[in-house]
Amino acid sequence: MIRIQVPATSANLGSGFDSLGIALSMYNQVWMEEADGIFINSRDGMEVPADENNLIYWSAKLLYQECGKKLPGLRIEQQSDIPMARGLGSSSACIVAGLTGANRFLGNPLTMQDLVNLACRIEGHPDNTTPALTGGLVASAMEAGRVHSVTVPVSDLIQFAVLIPPFELKTEFARGVLPDSYSREDAVYNLSRSALMTAALFSGSLSNLRVAVQDRLHQPYRQEFIPGIETVFRLSYELGSFGAYISGAGPSIISIVDDAGAANFQRYALSHLEEKNISGWKLELLHTDSAGAAVYID
Ligand code: HSE
Repeated sequence: MIRIQVPATSANLGSGFDSLGIALSMYNQVWMEEADGIFINSRDGMEVPADENNLIYWSAKLLYQECGKKLPGLRIEQQSDIPMARGLGSSSACIVAGLTGANRFLGNPLTMQDLVNLACRIEGHPDNTTPALTGGLVASAMEAGRVHSVTVPVSDLIQFAVLIPPFELKTEFARGVLPDSYSREDAVYNLSRSALMTAALFSGSLSNLRVAVQDRLHQPYRQEFIPGIETVFRLSYELGSFGAYISGAGPSIISIVDDAGAANFQRYALSHLEEKNISGWKLELLHTDSAGAAVYID
């Protein structure tokens, strides 16, 4: 069997709706081999579809079709630390695992650019799938079905304090609550902050992050579905966050921190939330993953 390791991802980074994304040091591990039927198993007890509808299987099958091959069947075993429907790219990790494994079985006929395009076609937007494939911080734009993207490394000094609530927020629903159009003022508000975010993370100019995470395209419409969000944001800045934002479509909240901020989060975040009757949240302190999807022979 081969093992494919795919990182979690945080899309949008606040202002870069459907454009910016970053790979994080939390992983889905998928073991795969060709088989005569479909055998899907979860090593960690997570409930996953065990038939053709499994996203890993479905993505692998699509890649075979794209290459003019028929997939006989697959044995898949998954062990994932990425919680589902929490804004951390769990579905993108499955798509990327299926594509990466299938590409390997066929002798890597698809290039990284092909994989980026195909993964985006399945997911519908590139901001989780591209960093899951490449690692790092990625800025992407779609043009005629092709993803144009640049991947840049992020300073090791930056960490991500990820506060994960005990409830899910489905991406489909969280996209459905967004307006169909925006004013020019709102468009400029986000354009300027998204450009600032990319430059600030790349250069390490952390003092700009608090402005760069603000947006008017999605967070104002999604926050009512994340009970406790105002308290979480307020606490994040008290603990030393440089910028706090809803990760992807939510509901997890990410704070960009340095070592001192990370230590504060570790020590105080969950107990202070409990004091405010916000319970059941989890904290993960993560770094940027710079490798992206990787295949290993165990
Ligand atoms: N950019 C996407 C969104 C990420 O905010 O809806 C979630 O898949």
